[in-house]
Amino acid sequence: MGMTYAEAIAKSNLLTSGDLMILDKSEEKRAELRATQLFDVHDQLNTCLPKADVVLIAVKPVHAITLMEEMKPMVSDGQLFVSIMAGVTIETIKQALNSVKVVRAMPNLPALVGLGMTSFIGSDDVSRLELAAIERLLDTTGRSINLTSESEIDASTGISGSGPAYIFYFMQALMDAALKMGFGEDDTRLLVGQTFSGAIELFNSSTLSPEDWMAKVASKGGTTRAALDSMDDNNVNELIQEAAYAAFRRAEELGKQTEGKETKNG
Ligand SMILES: NC(=O)c1ccc[n+]([C@@H]2O[C@H](COP(=O)([O-])OP(=O)(O)OC[C@H]3O[C@@H](n4cnc5c(N)ncnc54)[C@H](OP(=O)(O)O)[C@@H]3O)[C@@H](O)[C@H]2O)c1
Repeated sequence: MGMTYAEAIAKSNLLTSGDLMILDKSEEKRAELRATQLFDVHDQLNTCLPKADVVLIAVKPVHAITLMEEMKPMVSDGQLFVSIMAGVTIETIKQALNSVKVVRAMPNLPALVGLGMTSFIGSDDVSRLELAAIERLLDTTGRSINLTSESEIDASTGISGSGPAYIFYFMQALMDAALKMGFGEDDTRLLVGQTFSGAIELFNSSTLSPEDWMAKVASKGGTTRAALDSMDDNNVNELIQEAAYAAFRRAEELGKQTEGKETKNG
């Protein structure tokens, strides 16, 4: 995900390639990165971190504390840290880095194709101007929304962060049904993929709600009504909502666990 942001920012013309430093642990990866000529590639924190105005932290949450402890002695006033790590709270980052300027962002996988949805929030010490600059960087991977509380970040994790997987779940179910009905793999992929693309395009083309669109497709006694009635009879709507809440609760739990680790490590 860090690479996705780096590439999107590099291609956006917001920064020139020399302005964009990347730290990566793997020699193989560094060679690949150098070959793109998009980045100033580093293998040590001390050669890049002190020079950075904005630092994007994109390691797995489980590596967060170790990395930030390594960073802490090199952090200087005025540096701004943007974390995309799921469940790692602003307070954890502020304490771990001894820094006050932190933006916590929650991206999602479609960032890979420039259609990401990122929610973000800044700590009190991040100015409106700085937040606007960060928003421009985040928007290189799609669209973003500036939320007002960290609880909303956890909630957005349950909607847009984990959301693409719910869509894939629904796609897989429809593909399983198509295969059972006798369609081959290629036809199944086309039937389902194009149906999703078409529905999403329709949704984005107007202000109609999904319910409005369902009403347009379903007529009384018809095939679509039979399917929608079956879903309603099985409480599919409630089950999907419950799934989103499960992700929300898990995001909150992960945040508490990371805060616990920070406390244990002092
Ligand atoms: N993927 C998503 O859809 C998504 C959505 C929302 C949020 N996020 C967040 O994005 C973050 C990254 O996720 P990901 O799926 O992109 O993980 P990933 O593929 O494992 O990427 C993390 C990278 O950080 C490197 N790394 C680990 N420790 C490091 C250190 N001390 N110094 C320098 N580099 C280090 C890893 O190298 P090694 O492989 O060598 O360890 C790896 O290349 C996570 O915090 C996740 O919560 C991801």
